[in-house]
Amino acid sequence: QGYPFELNGMYCCKTHGGAELPVLPGGAAPFGNFPDYSRFHPPEGRVRLLPAALLSELFPNPRTGPLLGLDVGCNSGELSIALYRHLSELQESKISPEHSMAGKDLRLLCCDIDAGLIERAKQCSPFPGSISYATLDIMDSSAREALLSCYLSRFGRSTFDICFCMSVTMWIHLNHGDSGLVKLLSCLASKCIYLLIEPQPWKCYRAAARRLRKLGRSDFDHFRSLTINGNMAEKITQILTEDCAMELVCCFGSTSWDRNILLFKSKAAQHLL
Ligand SMILES: C[S@@+](CC[C@H](N)C(=O)[O-])C[C@H]1O[C@@H](n2cnc3c(N)ncnc32)[C@H](O)[C@@H]1O
Repeated sequence: QGYPFELNGMYCCKTHGGAELPVLPGGAAPFGNFPDYSRFHPPEGRVRLLPAALLSELFPNPRTGPLLGLDVGCNSGELSIALYRHLSELQESKISPEHSMAGKDLRLLCCDIDAGLIERAKQCSPFPGSISYATLDIMDSSAREALLSCYLSRFGRSTFDICFCMSVTMWIHLNHGDSGLVKLLSCLASKCIYLLIEPQPWKCYRAAARRLRKLGRSDFDHFRSLTINGNMAEKITQILTEDCAMELVCCFGSTSWDRNILLFKSKAAQHLL
């Protein structure tokens, strides 16, 4: 099925055709693959809500290997880098983790469906030794399993310590319907100990559909027939806690653009702590 490619100096399986996806006139992007996303929703607006010592609090026990994180829908990597700097407690932006005495040893695998965005992320990455990027449609189960298990096996692991799913749920929900959203959430819940998630509120669904309608497209008109709707943070919490064996640890508050940042913990993976 796959063929080898290099991921951070290691050979892995090619998992995705790697198409660059279209952005439509007026900046409408059917997958949320906006080329300048971080200019509109700066990483600092999210990162400042998180305690810098979060990983030390979540993983107080000493580890033999690094902590492993998965960033789903990383776009061109700006938020991944900000999360990496903040959570590995690298105060000086130029200190590389290999040369830092303090802080957590964190490795991130960041993926996005848009190969063009991933290419930009790779070119701009200040931490190529610690942050890996890959083109992946997270809803493509065979590509996903191949990539994730290949990455995890390098560290002798079968789950990530923390997964980030920031401003992605709406795009999966709009493109894959209610069942797609539930599949995404249960997949993420099964892949990590902690899940940090920033769901888009329902008003964003309306805005996304409106943007496409203005271009004469009806891609998201079906959003009215989604049965998971309304208070999305509440609905996602309900799915994760009732169907995916997770518990809500806390809400870190809301960004200035009105999105909650929620932290969940897997009940099944408690023994890995
Ligand atoms: C609104 S951006 C959020 C970017 C980043 N997480 C942040 O919060 O700054 C949503 C991202 O999800 C990606 N995406 C959408 N559907 C995806 C899928 N099925 N698999 C992987 N990435 C996806 C888009 O390409 C886009 O880069």
